[in-house]
Amino acid sequence: MQVGVPHQHTDTERRTPVVPDTVATMTEWGWNVVVSPGIGEPSGIPDQHFRDAGATVGEEAWRADLVLVVRPPSPHQLSELAPGTIVAGFLDPFVDVDTIGGLCVARLTGVALEAIPRTTLAQAMDALSSQANIAGYAAVILGSMESPRLFPMMVTAAGTIPPARVLVLGVGVAGLQAIATAKRLGASVYAYDVRPETKEQVESLGARFVDAVTVAADAGGYAVEVDESAQAAQHAALTEHVAAADLIVTTAQIPGRPAPLLVTAEMVSTMRPGSVIIDLAAATGGNVAGSRPDETVAVGGVRLLGPTNLASQYARDASRMLARNMIAMLERGRTDDHFVIDPEDEILGEATVVLDGEVLHPRSRELLEANRTANSEAAS
Ligand code: NAI
Repeated sequence: MQVGVPHQHTDTERRTPVVPDTVATMTEWGWNVVVSPGIGEPSGIPDQHFRDAGATVGEEAWRADLVLVVRPPSPHQLSELAPGTIVAGFLDPFVDVDTIGGLCVARLTGVALEAIPRTTLAQAMDALSSQANIAGYAAVILGSMESPRLFPMMVTAAGTIPPARVLVLGVGVAGLQAIATAKRLGASVYAYDVRPETKEQVESLGARFVDAVTVAADAGGYAVEVDESAQAAQHAALTEHVAAADLIVTTAQIPGRPAPLLVTAEMVSTMRPGSVIIDLAAATGGNVAGSRPDETVAVGGVRLLGPTNLASQYARDASRMLARNMIAMLERGRTDDHFVIDPEDEILGEATVVLDGEVLHPRSRELLEANRTANSEAAS
């Protein structure tokens, strides 16, 4: 079987979905791997390391039975693939209508890492978690670099510096890592999440939980959207903590919905000049009024940053973790010398959002239908 790993780097994307170790594994399986030249460059992995692991380095990475990607290919790139090609990786299958449409038109199969179930059985394939973990770490490092404050308490002959105060909003995978990182840097850390079970997790990391509205999660363990009055109560409870923070990291998301607004413009205006906000939800509308994807916005003396792919900053380790998630997923469908998708499989069946041009995942189907309805309404 031919496996292709094309070059997809952009200003904000530096990762690869394979590393030499996982290429060696695929080579042992009898798969032929072709990687685009320079694919490991941002990760500090020279082409020769891929060759040593058994890959060919060449321009034909898009011409393969299985194409591994770190971001959705463009509709044009999809249209050039042979029918039946499997495209596996981050496909943004519940938001990116062009990718789902492109997979259908070209009669391709799309296996999306985003659609892997978040279960214990599939933990090794959970790329959302592996990358969110890095993003949580990166957000605090970035925030500390942007901040004029030292993070640990320092008692020196030149005086005592109190610890910086960090507020983390949204305590999922990224938020927990942000708390742990800020604690390691010596900051005084506060955190809040709408799911009540996070209080214990926050406290077990040595941070203080901000008591505000909590609502039980849905059956999948995800937060549910809160109504307007609960949101107003959240804002009221968070106001004093926002004003006191040197760094705020926000990570709150609700699957399939715009990100909840947790910090209003009025709350930002109460912060001390020099304070920094890193809004990791900027791509889905933002948790902070005024933040914009991949931009830095100055509001008074406060800076709002909205990085959308912070994991990519640490390309070497992000790629290593992503490649391990990918190989665990490929292992699940591996036969002697092929990758076979059983639509009934509880993991691969879920992750296969499009099979030979037919949309299988209900959320991707809803996305296409909503788009068709919007287009026909616009046309009439
Ligand atoms: P996410 O990226 O969907 O959201 C981040 C956080 O924002 C969540 O903790 C969520 O509760 C919080 N949030 C949403 N609305 C909020 C609001 N209005 N105010 C404050 N916080 C708000 O979450 P992530 O990191 O993807 O994890 C989602 C869930 O999946 C968690 O329960 C996590 O423990 C679980 N999970 C389970 C895994 C497993 O069993 N293998 C693996 C990874 C995650």
